[in-house]
Amino acid sequence: MRIVLLGAPGAGKGTQAQFIMEKFGIPQISTGDMLRAAIKAGTPLGLKAKEVMDQGQLVSDDLIIGLVKERISQDDCAKGFLLDGFPRTIPQADAMKEAGVAVDYVLEFAVPDEEIVKRMSGRRVHSGSGRVYHLIYNPPKVEGKDDVTGEDLAIRADDEEGTVRKRLAVYHEQTAPLIEYYKQAAEAGQTRHYKVDGTQSVDTVSKQLAEILS
Ligand code: AP5
Repeated sequence: MRIVLLGAPGAGKGTQAQFIMEKFGIPQISTGDMLRAAIKAGTPLGLKAKEVMDQGQLVSDDLIIGLVKERISQDDCAKGFLLDGFPRTIPQADAMKEAGVAVDYVLEFAVPDEEIVKRMSGRRVHSGSGRVYHLIYNPPKVEGKDDVTGEDLAIRADDEEGTVRKRLAVYHEQTAPLIEYYKQAAEAGQTRHYKVDGTQSVDTVSKQLAEILS
């Protein structure tokens, strides 16, 4: 099962990726998490990516495509994977197609921009695992701590309102055209495209995704 999660920053992709990963036993490949890990480790990739990410812009297609190709060639991806945050541009989607990587499901999350700006101010993350929480909508069991490890939760550097608005503008310009791209692919029988109302509760969205995928 090869799945692409498509949606604006903050639409709930990372939250539902955790659910799908646990329910269907396939690895989550989050390009955002991979880049943040590279920044934390101070690798050359991380150094290049940090400035771009802090400004809410996209990292270059070449870098990202190389990163994803390497990741999906690993053994744990043999039975499928869940792409969270990739592809994010038409050239990234084309590169995957040219590499012969078919996509079984494209799950699109629809959430209006203003709702996203509100959500981001309450987001907290566990940087080690990529687990995502929200102060009100999806709170951790113990305030400020990750449910699994008990470690501290953090605020992401790019969640400040001005940066979120820039990321939304980049999304509409460079990523939203992928919706039409995958709709056409679905019409041609190359994939399945489903649009989910991402403003519903976390549990309701999870239930809908479980129905689609089973
Ligand atoms: P990335 O880490 O991929 O960020 P993003 O796509 O902007 O998505 P987010 O992680 O911000 O949001 P999400 O949809 O996962 O929402 P979440 O579940 O956390 O990318 C970061 C940066 O890396 C990019 O800006 C770019 O620079 C670079 N990058 C990454 N991939 C790249 C690529 N392919 N090419 C080029 N550059 C790339 O939810 C958000 C909040 O809402 C949480 O607090 C959550 O608890 C809450 N929430 C979730 N669902 C609900 C719900 N149903 N109701 C209420 N609250 C909810």
